[in-house]
Amino acid sequence: MTDLATFIRGIPKAELHLHIEGSLEPEQMFALSRRNKVDIPFKSVEEVRAAYAFSNLQDFLDIYYQGANVLQTEEDFRDLALAYFSRLHADRGRHAEIFFDPETHTDRGLPFSVSIDGLLAGMKEAEASFGITSKLIMCFLRHLDETSSLQTLKAAEPYLDHIAGVGLDSSEKGHPPSKFARVFKAAKERGLKICAHAGEEGPPEYVHEALDILHVDRIDHGNRALEDAALTQRLVKEGMTLTVCPLSNLKLCVVMDLKDHPMKRMLQLGLKATCNSDDPAYFGGYLADNYIRTAEAVGLARDDIITLAKNSFTGSFLDPASVAKHVAAIDAYVEAN
Ligand code: HPA
Ligand code: ZN
Repeated sequence: MTDLATFIRGIPKAELHLHIEGSLEPEQMFALSRRNKVDIPFKSVEEVRAAYAFSNLQDFLDIYYQGANVLQTEEDFRDLALAYFSRLHADRGRHAEIFFDPETHTDRGLPFSVSIDGLLAGMKEAEASFGITSKLIMCFLRHLDETSSLQTLKAAEPYLDHIAGVGLDSSEKGHPPSKFARVFKAAKERGLKICAHAGEEGPPEYVHEALDILHVDRIDHGNRALEDAALTQRLVKEGMTLTVCPLSNLKLCVVMDLKDHPMKRMLQLGLKATCNSDDPAYFGGYLADNYIRTAEAVGLARDDIITLAKNSFTGSFLDPASVAKHVAAIDAYVEAN
């Protein structure tokens, strides 16, 4: 039987929590800063990496929005997406549902079409080159007001056939899901799937709001739901998918040591957890690394890995036939390894 790390690397998997702007590696940041003649406040790749020491979510977001300034053209977004998909391909990723933050780009003067057209081009090329399928989830920045999110939904109107869902990200504390009740209602009426970051830094109450006010299809992170036994029970009963991001949780001090990560506990409780990379260029690991390092730290067993990989497809927004095909591929892989 293969060792666990090799088993993890090879198992077919999907990524359900990935901010494409968070896959901007320092090398690519420098290349784009030169290509577009946009200054960045760093002299070297080493200096950038050294700046990635965060004590909380806001520390990270400040540097992450600054990094995104180098993205200027459709080609930049296409290149960004392709660089991510080639990493995912190396990790045996077969499908990804990627977040993007249009307001990060429209607020600095780029038309809405630049980011989305570039990303869609990269996604199409990834399917042709690697056979990786993908879907796009448009996130609203929760530190901005609701008006901005409503304008963003309006700008997305011509693209709705290419957008699978909407999400809610950025600074969580002080910006509860209820602040965005109207825009999420409008998104649901347009047939979009609903995701929201909740319970990363924010209290269990925000997870309740995501369920009861936004009517989410998935909770992004959800760690702090474990503080509320009744809420945990509810998430189990409803089979709610949680897109958990262990290396992100470590880097943003949601857990102080990976050994304290709740992934094993979540699975033992029967929560439908998945394993994801969030912002891999900033948090030190892509998809397979998140599985491997978590498995080592909290003692995930082979069966846990199989559960996480299956959850990544059954928790996705793929159609049932595609889900069944991927789950069968996992069964075949498990049989052979
Ligand atoms: N949380 C909230 N907002 C984000 C994150 C995150 O982990 N990554 C990128 N935007
Ligand atoms: Zn996230």
